[in-house]
Amino acid sequence: MASVAVLGAAYSGLVNVGADDPHFPAVHAFLAMARDRSIAVRARDIEVPDLKDEALIRTGAGNYNAMCIGCHLAPGVEKTELSQALYPSPPNLTKSGTGGDPAAAFWIIKHGIKASGMPAWGKSMSDEYIWGIVAFLDQLPQLNAQQYQTMVAASSGHQHGGGESEMHGHEGQHGDNMPGHHAKPASKAHLHRDGKAHSHEN
Ligand code: HEC
Repeated sequence: MASVAVLGAAYSGLVNVGADDPHFPAVHAFLAMARDRSIAVRARDIEVPDLKDEALIRTGAGNYNAMCIGCHLAPGVEKTELSQALYPSPPNLTKSGTGGDPAAAFWIIKHGIKASGMPAWGKSMSDEYIWGIVAFLDQLPQLNAQQYQTMVAASSGHQHGGGESEMHGHEGQHGDNMPGHHAKPASKAHLHRDGKAHSHEN
């Protein structure tokens, strides 16, 4: 009977889907549990690469700066219009990093979170680059604004990891229509298809 009442209430338009009207605590707890369990189950078998790999971290810095700070902030960036306006609100990743669970972070970045502002980046980024961002997130809570800027600068900006022009050549992962996509010379950080990062001079 309870479910009929819930359906009836929903059908009558009683539920406010406005993003500026927070859920009741019980609803919030239920959605958070459903979200966390869904991710835990799906992230179970993901193998985590070496997150201390410096080339991997470097590729993540530029991509994080280009694609994530509008919602998830950065050292020295306290808030943005997006970070304040979204509900559920994007967690401040300069504080939580990978949340202690890199496999779950990888899954979330790749697939996004339904009915929230969190996009599915796997549609435009291959796994190597997503791992680069995860490796960078692992460092992020330890960085001050200056260290953050230094790492972003060393990463040569938003390139999906530095090997982008070559990626375009043989991967066909995404076209040249990426928003905020700049053509830049390939940097020293280069990721191979096997997911391992290597450094070499151009
Ligand atoms: C348009 C805003 C937006 C952008 C851009 C965005 N996210 Fe998110 N992200 C969100 C929101 C909102 C959530 C929370 C969703 C929820 O809890 O239901 C989230 C959740 C996450 C989480 C889970 C954190 C946790 O503790 O639950 C991770 C990790 C994450 N995002 C990483 C990223 C990365 C990496 C990028 C850039 C490649 C990115 N996001 C870009 C809005 C965004």
